[in-house]
Amino acid sequence: MKKYIMDCDPGHDDAIALILAARHLDLLGITTVGGNQTIEKVTTNALKVLEVIGRTDIPVHPGSQHPWIQKLETAPQFHGASGMDGPQVPVPTTQPRSTHAAQFIVDTANRAGRISLIATGPLTNLATALQLDPMLADKVEEIFIMGGSVTFGNWTPAAEFNIYVDPEAAYKVFNAGIPMRMCGLNLTRQAFVADKDLEILKGINNRVALFCHDLLRFFIDSCRKTAYIPGANLHDVCAVAWAVDPALIKAVDMHVQIELQGKYTRGMTVCDYRHLRNELPRQDMVHEATARFRGEQPNCAVGVELAVESFFSLLYDTIKSY
Ligand code: BDR
Ligand code: CA
Repeated sequence: MKKYIMDCDPGHDDAIALILAARHLDLLGITTVGGNQTIEKVTTNALKVLEVIGRTDIPVHPGSQHPWIQKLETAPQFHGASGMDGPQVPVPTTQPRSTHAAQFIVDTANRAGRISLIATGPLTNLATALQLDPMLADKVEEIFIMGGSVTFGNWTPAAEFNIYVDPEAAYKVFNAGIPMRMCGLNLTRQAFVADKDLEILKGINNRVALFCHDLLRFFIDSCRKTAYIPGANLHDVCAVAWAVDPALIKAVDMHVQIELQGKYTRGMTVCDYRHLRNELPRQDMVHEATARFRGEQPNCAVGVELAVESFFSLLYDTIKSY
């Protein structure tokens, strides 16, 4: 069985992603990163989730408080002052571990020989781990990330939050030569939940379902108020779902680069799929019939289509199983 570390910044969708990961994957540890909220808050939130699902055996290692070169930008307008507002969960009885997240990733890869990573926050810890151990890339089988977009962004017109918060770290990770599986907004917008999903969770009516209900009640309301959308997207859950069941996501290989300079586009994932131009709809082929692909080789499998019904069956069956 493959061994995983999940790097996250809970976060409502991170919390649900953790619930899925802890049930289906051999999770050697959770690392936390400053993102949706400060490192202290997201670490407490990760411990709370593990307590709710009865998995306090999984160690939590806090990592980077802020991005490589810029100030941390958090997302209280979506996730509240605590980073996981909504459910009333007591202060966790367990403590985070003292080894820094990046060091934990390096040590675990050396001990296990080979690991896979899932990242649902800014990529600061992963980039720092690659910096600490230049041989780490050879020991990482694949990285599933929630981040970026083939189409438009959410934090800016061009950039998605996780990449926008630490573009230099994202650049390091995307260019490390590790097989990448990217769940960008173009995919995660298909994992859409609204009031009807709250009813399903109420119907399941166990401790974990009611916790998820309270998470989504808050998240749906804040997305409504802040982004004017009639529900919420389970962004981070897609990255875990891909690791659990690859058949859930149709992906296309692309060369993805991180924009570091652009005045309007910093943090954008520039996705090059010109090599597929002959497979695109007719209007895109105009003047292209004889053109040759002059781009870089693909470095990333980019999720484009989610098997929505099966995704939600997996999620609700998992919640029921707790
Ligand atoms: C990403 O940003 C965070 O607010 C969510 O947890 C998710 O990881 C979506 O852009
Ligand atoms: Ca997240």
